[in-house]
Amino acid sequence: MSKSRINVGLLGLGTVGRGVYRILKDNRAEIEQKVGAPVEIKKILVRNPKKDRGLELEQDLLTTDAGDIINNPDIDIVVEVMGGINPALEYSLGALKQGKSLVTANKDMVAAHGKELFQAAGENGCDIFFEASVAGGIPIIRPLKECLAANRIRQVFGIINGTTNYMLTQMSKEGLSFDEALAQAQALGYAEADPTADVGGYDAARKLAIIASIAFNTRVPLDRVYIEGITRITTEDIKYASELNYVVKLMGIAKDSDDGIEVRVHPALLPKDHPLAPVDDVYNAIHVSGDAVGDVMFFGRGAGELPTASAVVGDVMSAARYQLRGVPGMGSCTCFTEKEIKPMGLTSTKYYIRLNVADRPGVLASIAFVFGNNDVSLASVIQKHTTGQAAEIVLVTHDVLEKNLQDALKIIKELSTVNEVSNVIRVED
Ligand code: NAP
Ligand code: HSE
Repeated sequence: MSKSRINVGLLGLGTVGRGVYRILKDNRAEIEQKVGAPVEIKKILVRNPKKDRGLELEQDLLTTDAGDIINNPDIDIVVEVMGGINPALEYSLGALKQGKSLVTANKDMVAAHGKELFQAAGENGCDIFFEASVAGGIPIIRPLKECLAANRIRQVFGIINGTTNYMLTQMSKEGLSFDEALAQAQALGYAEADPTADVGGYDAARKLAIIASIAFNTRVPLDRVYIEGITRITTEDIKYASELNYVVKLMGIAKDSDDGIEVRVHPALLPKDHPLAPVDDVYNAIHVSGDAVGDVMFFGRGAGELPTASAVVGDVMSAARYQLRGVPGMGSCTCFTEKEIKPMGLTSTKYYIRLNVADRPGVLASIAFVFGNNDVSLASVIQKHTTGQAAEIVLVTHDVLEKNLQDALKIIKELSTVNEVSNVIRVED
């Protein structure tokens, strides 16, 4: 029997859930016209039904029992916007097993349990959509799976965490400290429940694992993504980078080549005239290179209530259209090959290195000697400041193998004239 309306169950009513509620209410008429039937929220799972959410809510919409949604035969689409792995995974698998379409914004769950979720969707003939799990409001999953499907994707290169991009912008443009910038990102609803996921690079790594798996049609496990966050980035590094004509960004980089794929998340210096350099605040941008299309760039808000909910509701509308036409099962897994993942030591980039050294003749020569012996060629060396006893120097290398750089740094750290290797940041140009 064909459906005359689509009923949605929401798991979670926090930042993203509130946005979904608002869009489905405020754009109700347009959504109905575009889908071909009304789309209504039937039940919402929360932890605390008494919490003030700044919404005009009918109290009987709220429940603390997930069974009211998962086992409710009137609900067609379950939207998981709770976050975390459990119980989100248990509820999501439960919904798929009941034949309901699943829409989720949860990159933790998709990155770690994508295979299981796709299998459950396939076995039960239903859809799974997760556009909001990567880069908030920016469409990237569907473009990779559909619009760019004709290409062999060579590279995906992007700013994919809104919190850290907002923080780095505030630190560089407004002079905020790391902690002040993080507190602002949390207040704006950008950060994860545990912000270590953002500043430690794990959130970006989960998103990169999802994007790379789709772009290269091979499952990229999260534990194979190289991860470095922004916790070691100081205002000095940002200032020195700027003097050298660079900006500092947390990057997600995935490359496919004949000797394997590279997947890495780390801070990087980008030249000020790089297309991603002006991407500031909560904005994200993803640059994709395909063999047929060439270069394509996606840009927009990477986090926040309404931008993220825009992606979630777009997915709900797709799931609704499929259900109304009686053809669910379109959101299938595209990982049909197995590609080698390159060890990090075999990747190569340029590096910015900040050292605190003894302020004596011959120190620079001894450091340059170690780099030279390890095939690390230097592009520039700048002495920043000196106290008479110690000096701060900043070096930038040419393209070098990561393994060679790490070997050289191990020796340099042990030199009696080197007080500290203060920071090492990759340069991507
Ligand atoms: P949030 O503000 O912390 O909201 C989580 C919601 O889920 C709350 O309403 C909470 O209920 C409910 N909840 C959590 N655990 C529950 C449980 N065990 N039982 C019942 N209800 C539970 O999170 P959010 O920022 O909206 O993020 C949700 C998801 O979207 C996460 O996976 C996140 O990674 C992803 N995401 C977020 C953004 C963003 O900008 N925030 C962007 C893209 C993707 P109470 O309200 O009663 O506590
Ligand atoms: N915490 C995430 C970010 C939310 O800041 O990008 C969007 O996924």
